[in-house]
Amino acid sequence: MNIDTLIIGAGAAGMMCAAHAGPNTLVVDHAKAAGEKIRISGGGRCNFTNMHASPANFISQNKHFCKSALKRYTQWDFIALVDQYRIAWHEKTLGQLFCDETAKDIVAMLRAEMDKSGAQLWLQTSVDNIGHDGTHFHAQLTRDGRITQILAKNLVVASGGKSIPKMGATGLAYQIAGQFDVPVIETRPGLVPFTFGEDRFKPLAGVALPARVSANNTSFDEAILFTHRGLSGPAVLQASSYWHEGEQITVNVDPAAGLFNTLKSARQTQGRKALTTVMSQYLPARLVEVLSGDLQLAGNIADQSDARLQEIADQLSHWELTPSGTEGYRTAEVTLGGIDTDALSSKTMGAKSVPGLYFIGEAVDVTGWLGGYNFQWAWSSGWAAGQEI
Ligand code: FDA
Repeated sequence: MNIDTLIIGAGAAGMMCAAHAGPNTLVVDHAKAAGEKIRISGGGRCNFTNMHASPANFISQNKHFCKSALKRYTQWDFIALVDQYRIAWHEKTLGQLFCDETAKDIVAMLRAEMDKSGAQLWLQTSVDNIGHDGTHFHAQLTRDGRITQILAKNLVVASGGKSIPKMGATGLAYQIAGQFDVPVIETRPGLVPFTFGEDRFKPLAGVALPARVSANNTSFDEAILFTHRGLSGPAVLQASSYWHEGEQITVNVDPAAGLFNTLKSARQTQGRKALTTVMSQYLPARLVEVLSGDLQLAGNIADQSDARLQEIADQLSHWELTPSGTEGYRTAEVTLGGIDTDALSSKTMGAKSVPGLYFIGEAVDVTGWLGGYNFQWAWSSGWAAGQEI
């Protein structure tokens, strides 16, 4: 079968690309349905973009690479598309836009756009024997036990990263890159909970509070959540993308810096209360209880000097922790690293050394923050490749 464009992966990036790549396009995916990650994202409501999306919200070895695509297909372009399909949406927090009803509306919208452009979709299809004969890409597709040999002018790799293998993630993009001598930046899980050894936080499982979490000089002010295995919550997930194995993180559980003054005034009004009791009015009681040993929180509040109260406040705003690891690709929302952007055109996502070969979406070494940024990258990079094809 002779076609113009073969797109591997009917996820966010692949579907967006197919909607713009022209009629003689075939999208293949080994999954049962297209856009499965879209469907489950944002608790089923898909955080489809962020009003504040800008290159500053993306991690890449080349921080300039994402600029062109994000500028040419912006969050406002995607919002206009969503509006055109009369999909109701709302801002939840921090510019994060969610569907009012269901993420399935976004999948249906992209499918409709693909149909409009004439792209075909083959699901439950495996791809083997990918190669290039100098003018065309070839691949062997297997669907329903039937084998189809494909010849295509363009090959778009939109098969995503390694996150959540249970949902069909494979390393295919890196394998194809290797085959065509396109370099790959080492991958690691991002937007992922931290783990700590020895059940360290088990007694705190379920405790949530606002905090500032810092890793590698980058800080995020959002909620944190203690889990049976360690630490999660938006601030932790964000910081995890900046963290490397063995490094320390800093957790500030007093981000509003009000603890010292609160304790000082309580010393006047509630002097006979235990220090831990007063602190529990400001912080979750279970956290205070667990920290009381480490921080030696003994005695009544009246017994504490200004210096001692300041010391406690300082300790709680510079809580240094070394995670033993992360929960890994099993739960990571994204994959950091990937196809080296130096090998790609930032305008088209095309591989500089192999005309007609494109890499888009999460497979590329561009990773967004939590909050709709990763889908925006999928839309922008998919659109950029689609324009060129
Ligand atoms: P994506 O992973 O979407 O698609 C890749 C496709 O390729 C899949 O359909 C897969 O089946 C297929 N494929 C893989 N290997 C193949 C092979 N060997 N053969 C054939 N097909 C193959 N982001 C965001 O901005 N807002 C949000 O709300 C969320 N929420 C969220 C929740 C959860 C639980 C996860 C895991 C992730 C998110 N994300 C997110 C991140 C977001 O889902 C992700 O960045 C994009 O889906 C990436 O889009 P891609 O199209 O690049 O890959």
